[in-house]
Amino acid sequence: MKFFVDTANLDQIRDAQNLGVLDGVTTNPSLMAKEGITGRDNILKHYVAICNIVDGDVSAEVIATDFDGMVKEGEELASLHEQIVVKLPMIKEGVKAAKYFSDKGIRTNVTLVFSAGQALLAAKAGATYVSPFIGRLDDISTDGLNLIAEIRLIYDNYGFETQILAASVRHTMHIIDCAKLGADVITGPLSSIEGLLSHPLTDIGLAKFLADYKKGN
Ligand code: G3P
Repeated sequence: MKFFVDTANLDQIRDAQNLGVLDGVTTNPSLMAKEGITGRDNILKHYVAICNIVDGDVSAEVIATDFDGMVKEGEELASLHEQIVVKLPMIKEGVKAAKYFSDKGIRTNVTLVFSAGQALLAAKAGATYVSPFIGRLDDISTDGLNLIAEIRLIYDNYGFETQILAASVRHTMHIIDCAKLGADVITGPLSSIEGLLSHPLTDIGLAKFLADYKKGN
């Protein structure tokens, strides 16, 4: 199972990389804007800065919503760095663009996926990753994890190689549940990954070990 962080914040990306368990980064236009990264040139430079910090895949999202625009932008993004994965929205033109990039050997992440049918189309188009947004489904009283289970079943039925990238992960239990359901990747805030560390019995046990060591030394 791969762990990605879902942020454009370089400090958090460095922290996640230093933890030693990071496999990649996802970003989107909202996350870029949150960090104050605006203007095409600055956004492109920021993607390169992220690639220079992490070892794994870095999803970079197109803004265009027409096929030609997606192809032009996607090719520019892919040429920035070998770690870039072109992120495309789950719309008709996005599916066509995913197929185009797949035929050219350029990796893609089809995003804003909220149904099993959309995930099936992304796989048929040869997407490298599909990003079902589980937190946003939970937000509207729909079980996001159920979508992960449906996609896993469908992909396994036919041997689709598209990796299920559970996105809009909000907390640690989402990660545990995605792991049980067989998601290939999760992407979430660093806090959701660091949450996996915590257990009071670990802290109590360590304090006791250190206290007992001190008694004899
Ligand atoms: O990875 C998708 C993500 O950026 C959306 O997360 O928390 O805004 O629903 P969220």
